[in-house]
Amino acid sequence: MHRFALKIYGCQMNVYDGDKIRTALVARGWRESPEDEADLVILNGCSIRDKAEQKVWSDLGRFAVRWKNERKPIVAVTGCVAQSVGRRMAARFPWVRFVSGPRHIGAVPDALEQFFNERDAGRTIGNEETVFFLDDDPRAFLDLPGAPTERVNRWKAFVTIAHGCDNFCSYCIVPYVRGRFVSRPAEDILEEMRTLVADGVLEITLLGQNVNSYGSDFSDGYRFSSLLRDAAASTGVRLLRFVTSHPRDFTPDIVEAMAEHTDILCPSINLPIQSGSDRILKMMNRGYTLEQYRAAVSLIRNHLPGAGLTTDLIVGHPGETDDDFQCSVNALREFRFDLVHSAAYSPREGTSAAAREDQIPREVKMARLNEINRIQSLIAREINESLVGSRFSVLLDDVAPRGEGILQGRTPSDKVVLVEGGEELLGRFVSVEITCGENWCLNGRVLHVEN
Ligand code: SAH
Ligand code: SF4
Ligand code: F3S
Repeated sequence: MHRFALKIYGCQMNVYDGDKIRTALVARGWRESPEDEADLVILNGCSIRDKAEQKVWSDLGRFAVRWKNERKPIVAVTGCVAQSVGRRMAARFPWVRFVSGPRHIGAVPDALEQFFNERDAGRTIGNEETVFFLDDDPRAFLDLPGAPTERVNRWKAFVTIAHGCDNFCSYCIVPYVRGRFVSRPAEDILEEMRTLVADGVLEITLLGQNVNSYGSDFSDGYRFSSLLRDAAASTGVRLLRFVTSHPRDFTPDIVEAMAEHTDILCPSINLPIQSGSDRILKMMNRGYTLEQYRAAVSLIRNHLPGAGLTTDLIVGHPGETDDDFQCSVNALREFRFDLVHSAAYSPREGTSAAAREDQIPREVKMARLNEINRIQSLIAREINESLVGSRFSVLLDDVAPRGEGILQGRTPSDKVVLVEGGEELLGRFVSVEITCGENWCLNGRVLHVEN
């Protein structure tokens, strides 16, 4: 029996892909083990910024000692980082013997099995052969069938509803590593959700780079709102969330569907603004103006009172002036987001923004990032403090990293809530009263168990 360890970096899509790979390996008789006992370590890596890529590079370096002594572990690099720099990783580290891009996920478990069988038979050990599955055709997609039943979290699961992205925002590597946009058939998604519910899952998050484009490649008029309605009505899932919404395609039918099923469809929306300046939004190829963004926010707030609204924001895109940056600061003050995923622009090889000559110096980017984080943390604290005394139904889904006896869950609006409680409360819905609001989370006390 072979032992594997799996490390996930990056976004929820990588968590979902990782859960699927784990499920497929366990079904083939592999056992998950700590990294220092594993025959195989899979690094499912991200490429969104240089920092994400550097994490994988530095983790790869750490295998040198064990490799020298034991010729173990074999390392498989998968995910977006494999597609972007996997070849370079394999060239640098002899323990990287398997490289697969995210659109070859369906080939990974069998190929790993074959690789180890051959190695056990003494056929490849010692030579320098590396298996490469790189996604040369951006339209090809080899899926890995089966619901992810061996998950990171027992109560929560992710389900990807559409692969890839066709938007080619100036700064973004995703279309290059994840390929062209393709929606999964609705019946496959709903069936997978039912399997997960039967496996004990209570909360599902639907994933796509642009979930509201779901179905735009179908000819039958089936849309994201159709999927939301069907998922709420026919899968038995207790809570349903989704990310990410694109402001350009955010249509009223989505919030209408959400308003019909407020008990299941959590009123929380991630609507990445990226910049508050029309000039920069245009350079970014985002396809909306600040005014159009404002209209999407009004749509959400009118239909879904109390909805959580989060965003993503990049500072220091090439060409960003102090005035452009000030527009982003103003946007934070205007929209008062619950949470902002802020990032300093990081040039990605092959993208259009990386080739521009008007790059912003690192110190300027860092100063702008600090300013955004400072302002947003004040806003978030104000919002969170205003929630003291409110009551929410919360699924307690994990032990908090913060300390013993603290459990965590999320409000319907997607705010992290910490409560005191024993592990017997995990997987239960509880009624929570908020006692204190911090910058990044809420603290509360359990009033009673709901189910
Ligand atoms: N599909 C989503 C975003 C996916 S990438 C959307 O359209 O908004 C997740 C986030 O990473 C982005 O929202 C963006 O804020 C950030 N990001 C992407 N490329 C980046 C880059 N080159 N530098 C800095 N941040 C980046
Ligand atoms: Fe990247 Fe833009 Fe696609 Fe989002 S919509 S994944 S930012 S190219
Ligand atoms: Fe990273 Fe790929 Fe997700 S680049 S953010 S893991 S889609």
